Amino acid sequence: MPERTAVVTGGAGFLGSHLVEELVRRKWRVRVVDDLSNGSRRNLSAVKDRVDFRRASILNPKAMDAAINGADVVFHMAAKVSVAESIERPELYARANVAGLIQALEAARRHDVKRFIFPSSAAVYAEEGPARKTERSPLRPVSPYAVTKVLGEALCRVYREDHGLKTVSLRLFNIYGARQAAVGGYASVIPKFLGAIADGKRPVVNGDGKQTRDFVHVNDVVTAFLLAAERKGVSGEEFNIGSGKAVSVIALLDMIRTATGSKLQPKFVTARKGEVRDSCASIAKARRLLGFEPRVSLAEGIARLSRRI
Ligand SMILES: NC(=O)c1ccc[n+]([C@@H]2O[C@H](COP(=O)([O-])OP(=O)(O)OC[C@H]3O[C@@H](n4cnc5c(N)ncnc54)[C@H](O)[C@@H]3O)[C@@H](O)[C@H]2O)c1
Repeated sequence: MPERTAVVTGGAGFLGSHLVEELVRRKWRVRVVDDLSNGSRRNLSAVKDRVDFRRASILNPKAMDAAINGADVVFHMAAKVSVAESIERPELYARANVAGLIQALEAARRHDVKRFIFPSSAAVYAEEGPARKTERSPLRPVSPYAVTKVLGEALCRVYREDHGLKTVSLRLFNIYGARQAAVGGYASVIPKFLGAIADGKRPVVNGDGKQTRDFVHVNDVVTAFLLAAERKGVSGEEFNIGSGKAVSVIALLDMIRTATGSKLQPKFVTARKGEVRDSCASIAKARRLLGFEPRVSLAEGIARLSRRI
């Protein structure tokens, strides 16, 4: 197969950098557009000589045009990603996640890109109804961040219908893996627990810990992005990408304590605003149409991360 070119916006971030590594491994030519507002060039150190890195904002039309010119696939990973921050600064989220997406879609349609892959989120779903969400479950975002994802999916569909751009949206559940932030407003629960244990501090649990999440390993998510870019007959679709299994936060902490041999007891604090109680993916549609199959169990994923602390 001739060499293909991918543009990965947000490619210096957590998920984007894992995707870039895999694209390079599969011999794609890769251009990264990232303003380093949350990502870091360190995340790309393993592939730094094989990636065309451009420090620029997705809001810069010239930079986007130059990066996307000649690309086969755009993976639009750049976004503001903190639910809590989006409640405080909704305008910032509208700019980066909606206006920024429009810049990327515009450049993609001008340059006849073959596929445009958009990372949506499990946060688009309504709290009510069965905890296991299918792609037909009702949507009701409860944070500005989640609203930007609903809008993003709608924009992708509109560009497909109005301009024939082949878009696919992946509704990502809780991703975890190496290089994920352990501190700050963006931090998610697995690196936070591991970080606390490594520092000999009690892991902090928001709420009663009985809230459930679907944790999916970053390697499996990267595979889903590649399938979305390559499978026939999937454009215009939304897919849940998760493990398909729900685990409570407290059960997760027990697994981490077992894997690390830690005896530290959790410290319970008030639940966070804008977060859903239970979240689990039905991945039947992704299995059927994308051929997606998660490979890394939560126990295996935690064991891999625990060896690093
Ligand atoms: N990590 C998860 O569990 C999860 C779950 C659901 C959806 N997502 C989505 O996946 C995508 C990647 O998330 P992540 O966890 O890797 O976050 P991340 O913050 O690590 O990566 C996002 C990257 O985008 C860059 N960026 C932000 N604004 C930019 C701008 N204006 N111009 C250029 N670059 C910009 C940041 O510097 C960062 O490198 C996001 O769209 C996020 O909403 C992630």
